[in-house]
Amino acid sequence: MNKFTLAAEAVDPGRVPKRTVYTGAKIPAIGLGTFGSDRFSAEQVARAVRGAVAAGYRHIDCASVYGNEAEIGKVFSEILSSGALRREELWITSKVWNDRHDRVIDACKKSLADLQLDSLDLYLVHWPFPNFHPPGCDVTSRSPDARPYIHENFMKTWRQMEQLADSGLVRHIGTSNMTIPKLTLLLRDAQVRPACNEMELHPHFQQPDLFQFCLDNGIVPIGYCPLGSPARPERDRTPDDTADLEDPVILEIAARHNTTPAAVCIRWALTRGQIPIPFSRHHYKENLEAAAAGPLSDEEIKRISKIDKNCRLIKGQVFLWKENQNWEDLWDTNGEITPP
Ligand SMILES: NC(=O)c1ccc[n+]([C@@H]2O[C@H](COP(=O)([O-])OP(=O)(O)OC[C@H]3O[C@@H](n4cnc5c(N)ncnc54)[C@H](OP(=O)(O)O)[C@@H]3O)[C@@H](O)[C@H]2O)c1
Repeated sequence: MNKFTLAAEAVDPGRVPKRTVYTGAKIPAIGLGTFGSDRFSAEQVARAVRGAVAAGYRHIDCASVYGNEAEIGKVFSEILSSGALRREELWITSKVWNDRHDRVIDACKKSLADLQLDSLDLYLVHWPFPNFHPPGCDVTSRSPDARPYIHENFMKTWRQMEQLADSGLVRHIGTSNMTIPKLTLLLRDAQVRPACNEMELHPHFQQPDLFQFCLDNGIVPIGYCPLGSPARPERDRTPDDTADLEDPVILEIAARHNTTPAAVCIRWALTRGQIPIPFSRHHYKENLEAAAAGPLSDEEIKRISKIDKNCRLIKGQVFLWKENQNWEDLWDTNGEITPP
């Protein structure tokens, strides 16, 4: 492969908005997701990272469970040793998987070694449930070791996250797949606050209450599945799911701007104030251009606010911890943490 260089026709990263976390650090307001939906090899995803950084991306969302950090690490090493970019020009996130809640520091060091980095900009607790399940397992699969959310236990995990922040191995720590009741307890007890919460966010799943809670508490929302995850694995599909990219309002706004439905979803996300992290092997440049294209109008934002269908795609069934539960139990939908 040729030496890494920035593409001549790259999007100027200066045109891409940034969000400020409570420390004052600035995150590029679009990142590249790296979950290959079980379809793409680690090498294919790493190639997308290489192409996306060359095209102007400066924010990459990784996780150990995606099984591709070592290959992405080779790309980071190549980029940084080429001299084309300095480390501080990239925002790199990783996440501790659910079977490492009691060994967070080791898990983080493994991600750092795989990614060939000295530090991460953001390290997240991927899910608030400590159960292991193998990548790619069916939604009906249940682990005999599955455990509910127990705040005291989560705080033991969080204390390790705080040690990582204190040690300088990670610049910020945060959460993913949390709910308002869980975040309320965490904010009460944390010594180092979560800087970001990664959560499912797309026009058909806007989570207005949790989204607003994050903003009100100085937590930057990062939105996963920002396009409605059109290539998600079979296990994450149900007959009731709806498709954001086919919504008539999204299509109409796209036609008005002479752009694509995906670009409208991305511009909606940036205008609203979350950081979308679309995965893409073929459209990353188009997505970055959408992020740099400026806000949608108030009227367009109002219209999109009305197409929310509360359609959660990543329901998390494998985290259920006992028989006869419903996936809603994972999401504290009645406003309280579901009792064990
Ligand atoms: N924290 C968590 O628990 C969690 C859970 C799920 C996901 N995530 C993160 O969020 C990222 C994004 O989620 P996702 O990958 O499931 O869903 P997504 O980003 O909504 O959708 C990705 C899919 O959309 C296609 N796509 C991208 N840009 C497009 C465009 N402009 N036009 C048409 N199609 C386009 C991609 O195809 P092409 O490759 O052909 O462009 C890819 O198949 C993941 O990669 C992962 O990093 C986090």
